[in-house]
Amino acid sequence: MRQDHLISATQLSRADIEAVLDRAAEIDADPTAWQERHAGSVLGLCFFEPSTRTRMSFDTAMKRLGGQTVDMGSVESTSVKKGETLADTMRVVEGYADALVLRHPSEGSAKMASEFVDVPLVNAGDGAGQHPTQTLLDLYTMRENAGLDDITVGIMGDLKYGRTVHSLASALTNFDVRQHFISPESLRLPRNVRYDLHDSGAQVREHTELEAVLAELDVLYVTRIQRERFPDENEYRKVAGEYQIDTDDLDAAKESLTVMHPLPRVDEIAPAVDDTDQAKYFEQAHNGVPVRMALLDMLLDDTGGAQ
Ligand code: NCD
Repeated sequence: MRQDHLISATQLSRADIEAVLDRAAEIDADPTAWQERHAGSVLGLCFFEPSTRTRMSFDTAMKRLGGQTVDMGSVESTSVKKGETLADTMRVVEGYADALVLRHPSEGSAKMASEFVDVPLVNAGDGAGQHPTQTLLDLYTMRENAGLDDITVGIMGDLKYGRTVHSLASALTNFDVRQHFISPESLRLPRNVRYDLHDSGAQVREHTELEAVLAELDVLYVTRIQRERFPDENEYRKVAGEYQIDTDDLDAAKESLTVMHPLPRVDEIAPAVDDTDQAKYFEQAHNGVPVRMALLDMLLDDTGGAQ
């Protein structure tokens, strides 16, 4: 990795991505070989927003590398409740850990926090901004199932507030991937993300109906409507439940289609789809461990962390 902090997927070159994915594959092939590698290192987990997969897979990843974790716990139990600023909290916590993972509801918070700390800081989701480590495990899953070049990917759902979408779309510009975005008009990709994609020469098309592109897709990446980010609950209700897939919808898709979702799902994917060979979202969630092990291994090595 060229940079110590991982804040945005826009930092990642194709070589960076491939280095992480290759190491994750090595780890996956023989996980026990890595179990002493970072003995003595500590990872700080700072989650200011709910998390199951990201928090637990970082925790597991660090422990499987032989290291330990310190978890800030819920915001209710911390000095944030006494009015402490994010910058102060992070400056204190960096003294307890060799690397930090931060999730926070404000877009830009990870970038800001990274300016106050010297240990590597990983953005585990900043509001509707970015979620680059989710992207790494998404790409790992895609590479295993569909390859990463000369493929057609459809990204569907909440493209406006979905941070996993923003990170994934930008990372995919490093590969020979045709990107189709499917959403209601009100949840289109944010303008800045669209501009960046066009700037990088990506092949991008937008649609309001999945039927328009489904048959062409090698990967369908479904996302949850991010209810918690809507300023107005009525606006959420207008679009809730609009973009759902069931097994019937997949009749028109390639048999080799890979269906992905960063999870948690609400009702975007009917449970019956789970039993199809196309469903890869649980495998995708499990890939969070080897991919985050690979990333932590590289970040800790770069900063001379314990080995
Ligand atoms: C995602 C997130 O937090 O952005 N979850 C995750 O990390 N897998 C997606 C979501 O919450 O919809």
